[in-house]
Amino acid sequence: MTPLPRLAILLSGRGSNMEAIVREVQGGILQGVCEVAVVVSNEPEAAGLGVADALGVPTIVEPSRGRPRSAFGEALLEALDPFSPDLLVLAGFMLVLPPGVVRAYAHRIVNIHPADTRLHRGLHGYAWAWENQLPETRITVHWVDEGLDTGPVIAQAPVDLRQARDLAEVERRGLAVEHRFYSEVLRGLFTGTGSRSD
Ligand code: GRF
Repeated sequence: MTPLPRLAILLSGRGSNMEAIVREVQGGILQGVCEVAVVVSNEPEAAGLGVADALGVPTIVEPSRGRPRSAFGEALLEALDPFSPDLLVLAGFMLVLPPGVVRAYAHRIVNIHPADTRLHRGLHGYAWAWENQLPETRITVHWVDEGLDTGPVIAQAPVDLRQARDLAEVERRGLAVEHRFYSEVLRGLFTGTGSRSD
């Protein structure tokens, strides 16, 4: 049997996208498509670590604070090595990856961004949509290069923001799309199809 492609999911905080992906791997549209080899956090206190642990996924912490970027990058590569990931999946990972990591995993790193990366890059994508009273925003999954949300777009999904009452509602609607969409895109990358099987 051919081994399944292995994901390393990188996060810094809550981990709701990681959780959605792991659940799809364990019993949804990613089952039999790929496996989650490890969840990595650069923040020792990230809530997502506990979530991954409860789901039975190995976790590692590779702290980024107080370390030169290149040293963090080298340590991250070493920590990832034993898990032999085929794809790095950034899911709320709040750092621009050091260039050495991007080069080591060239064309094998994806990210989810809560806006159209051609219109808004960096933090606070939902606040940007809310403040501009957008009727719709677009979740973007893109390849990661050395810039901040600058890599080639893989796919986008619309979020209907009409009549949203506040920023919390914008975020709720957006995250609901993110949680479904990221796994669909991963499935598409591995199988050439993006549709849900349920
Ligand atoms: C998501 O909105 C994601 O698009 C952005 O950071 C947030 C992470 O949320 N990159 P979570 O940690 O997955 O809950």
